[in-house]
Amino acid sequence: TFDHNKVTVIYILGGPGAGKGTQCGRLVEDFGFCHLSAGDLLRAEQNRVGSQYGILIQTCIREGTIVPMEVTVKLLENEMTAELQRRTGDGWNDGRGRFLIDGFPRKMDQAIKFDTEVCLASLVIFFTTSEEVMLVRLLERGKTSGREDDNIESIKKRFRTYNDQTMPVIQYYAKEDKVAEIDSTASIEVVHKEASQVIKNLFSRALP
Ligand code: AP5
Repeated sequence: TFDHNKVTVIYILGGPGAGKGTQCGRLVEDFGFCHLSAGDLLRAEQNRVGSQYGILIQTCIREGTIVPMEVTVKLLENEMTAELQRRTGDGWNDGRGRFLIDGFPRKMDQAIKFDTEVCLASLVIFFTTSEEVMLVRLLERGKTSGREDDNIESIKKRFRTYNDQTMPVIQYYAKEDKVAEIDSTASIEVVHKEASQVIKNLFSRALP
């Protein structure tokens, strides 16, 4: 478990192609966050020579299903630990770790596990737009991304998994009053401004 006084966690959620990764890139520049993308960590693990999870991860990603919780939580915990060790003592932000955790938690079991055994999140930023918009973005990105799941069959499965498994997570945090919903249909700049303001508000409240 991480010390809540030393760590601030913000979850970034939204459908496939809603703009989570794009916005995280911008927010890192603004606030010095460490950006941890669950999808990127899983793809790196899939490609790691000797990984026992390579085939499992590859299958889940292609099928748009959720990789078993233990694998994803472990990867995130390891990265957080490494980041805190890097930050401690370097004069940066008093060693406090600020994490944007992107694409996680995607299922209730992950949310409960992280909340109870790893670290409580302060805020959930939830990017929303229509499936039509997300589809166009992903098919466009698929031309150059090389991602195995940026094709119409996988995208439809990703939408289904998101609606069935991830929406309940968002509803769960909404009941705790932790969700800031941002319409991500607008331009990258407009969405970024709004997300940035939400984080400024959080820090002015919680971290004087
Ligand atoms: P993951 O890699 O997280 O994919 P995803 O959630 O489907 O989201 P994407 O990365 O595709 O989209 P994004 O919202 O980041 O959009 P982006 O900014 O890139 O997960 C992949 C798979 O890994 C999952 O299906 C699952 O199998 C597994 N996995 C991941 N997390 C897991 C977890 N927690 N547990 C278990 N399994 C997990 O933008 C998309 C495109 O749109 C880009 O080209 C961008 O330039 C463009 N764009 C973005 N914003 C705008 C805008 N405002 N206007 C115009 N274009 C825009």
